[in-house]
Amino acid sequence: MKFTVLTIFPEMFSALLRGGIVGRAIEHQHISVEPINIRDFAKDRHRTVDDRPYGGGCGMVMKPEPMAEAIRHARKKDPEACTLLLTPQGQLFNQRVAQELAGYPGLILVCGRYEGIDERVREHLVDNELSIGDYVLTGGELAAMVVIDAVSRLIPGTLGSEHSAQEDSFSTGLLEYPQYTRPRSFEGTNVPEVLLSGDHGAIRQWRRQASLVRTVLKRPDLLMDQPLTTGDLEFMKKLQQDIKTIIEKHCE
Ligand code: ADE
Repeated sequence: MKFTVLTIFPEMFSALLRGGIVGRAIEHQHISVEPINIRDFAKDRHRTVDDRPYGGGCGMVMKPEPMAEAIRHARKKDPEACTLLLTPQGQLFNQRVAQELAGYPGLILVCGRYEGIDERVREHLVDNELSIGDYVLTGGELAAMVVIDAVSRLIPGTLGSEHSAQEDSFSTGLLEYPQYTRPRSFEGTNVPEVLLSGDHGAIRQWRRQASLVRTVLKRPDLLMDQPLTTGDLEFMKKLQQDIKTIIEKHCE
C-alpha cells in the first residue's frame, strides 16, 4: 500500500514514519508513506497556499491551484490510487471503511487547513471525503495519520501475526475480550483460571462470551446487525435468565 499525503506540514508525519508498527512496515516495505508539501506547487515567490474568501468572512481558504497541481502530481505517480480529502464533512471513518480502503493499491490523502479548501478542488479532484469523528481539528493531518495507522495494520505482513487484525475489536463485530499477562496475581486480582487451563476450546468459549458481555455493556448497538451463533444466543438467554432470577429474588 502506497500512501501519499498532500499537506503544508509534511514534518508532522516524521514521528509516524519513524516509530512503531507503521515505521516497521515501511522498513519492511509492506507500505510506503510519502508526505508531499503542497507549498512546493505554489507558483509565486512567497509560495502562497491560501487567500481570502470571496464574499468576505473570517479566515483564509486554501487556493485551488497549488492543491490541484499537487493532486495531479500524486495521481500521475499513482494512477490507481483513491484520492481522499480529510474533512469533518466527510463519510465517517470506521473499521469497515478501513477494510475497504486497505483494498486499494494506494491512497492519496489530501489535508486541508485554514477555514477550508476551494470548493472546486473538492468537486472535481477528490474521489471521496473522510471524517474521523464529529469534531473539528485544525487540519486534516492528524486525521490522515489515523487513516494511515488503521489501514496499515490491515495490510498483510504489517502486524507480526496475521491473526492480530482478525481478532481485534470491530473485525469480529464485537469488542475485544480482556487480555492478561504475568503475574498471575496482581494487586489482589487473579487471572481467570480458564486461561491457565491449557484447554483451548474452553479458552475460545470464554473469550467469545467475555466479548459478548463487554459488547452488550459498552456498545450494544454493535450487536444489532451482527450475526450471532446459536451458542452466543444460548449464552445470552442464560445470562438474561440469571439476571431475571436475581432481580426476582431481590423484589420478593
Ligand atoms: N479536518 C478537520 N477536522 C477533521 C475531522 N474531524 N476529520 C477529518 N479531517 C478533519
